[in-house]
Amino acid sequence: MIQTYWQDAARDEAMQDEHAFIWRAMLETIDIDLAGRRVLDAGCNRGGFLRLLADRRGITEGFGYDPASGAIEDARQLAGQRPLHFEAADTIPGGWCDFDAAFSHEVLYLLHDLSAHARAMFAALVPGGVYYAVMGVHASSPLMAEWHRANLEELHLPELYDIDEVIAVFEAAAFHAAAARLAIRFVPTAGHGHHGQDRLLDWLDYYYDKKLLLRFSRTAESSASATP
Ligand SMILES: C[S@@+](CC[C@H](N)C(=O)[O-])C[C@H]1O[C@@H](n2cnc3c(N)ncnc32)[C@H](O)[C@@H]1O
Repeated sequence: MIQTYWQDAARDEAMQDEHAFIWRAMLETIDIDLAGRRVLDAGCNRGGFLRLLADRRGITEGFGYDPASGAIEDARQLAGQRPLHFEAADTIPGGWCDFDAAFSHEVLYLLHDLSAHARAMFAALVPGGVYYAVMGVHASSPLMAEWHRANLEELHLPELYDIDEVIAVFEAAAFHAAAARLAIRFVPTAGHGHHGQDRLLDWLDYYYDKKLLLRFSRTAESSASATP
């Protein structure tokens, strides 16, 4: 079902501000140069990550999709003259292909059909392309397991995935997988109280230990024959 915002206008805006330090850590951690690249952001919400890539990493073009149509409208307004394109969709829009790199930040845990997503991402990347997916909401993350239980119904969440299960799904879609922890420097302490979990040490453990950057590579030799 298409909804206007993921949560609501105010909470989506606040979320994007809170995520800026993680987006910077993602850029510190990745192992490719994005200058001159064509980049996809799955679950882009208001487009803040793609604006960062356009402003600081010199991407040629950025494409973002998200089922939250209100957030996508905001993303279009906020993009200004940047070479960014946004669509309201719950999977990669038709005709979007040939990406050098793709990203998602905390989106995999929301997807009911991870295999379909993995196959669609594989098809959308050029051979040699890379999909970087950040995932902190998984079964080995106690803080997020708690959050998942509390929000299961309201957010129509699928079961809480195990990180090894996620890797297996992407490998079955012919990706080569690798994982890293994020190069986070400082975690802002403001903004965590509204989760109802005001425990700084738990949050530091989450950001430095549990929140992972998964790298799924469509190597030049990867064959899509594994995809049905
Ligand atoms: C936790 S938010 C993260 C947003 C953004 N990536 C960021 O870093 O701020 C999750 C986002 O995933 C979006 N989403 C939900 N279902 C999706 C789907 N099937 N495909 C892509 N995005 C989806 C939500 O609308 C929401 O904007």
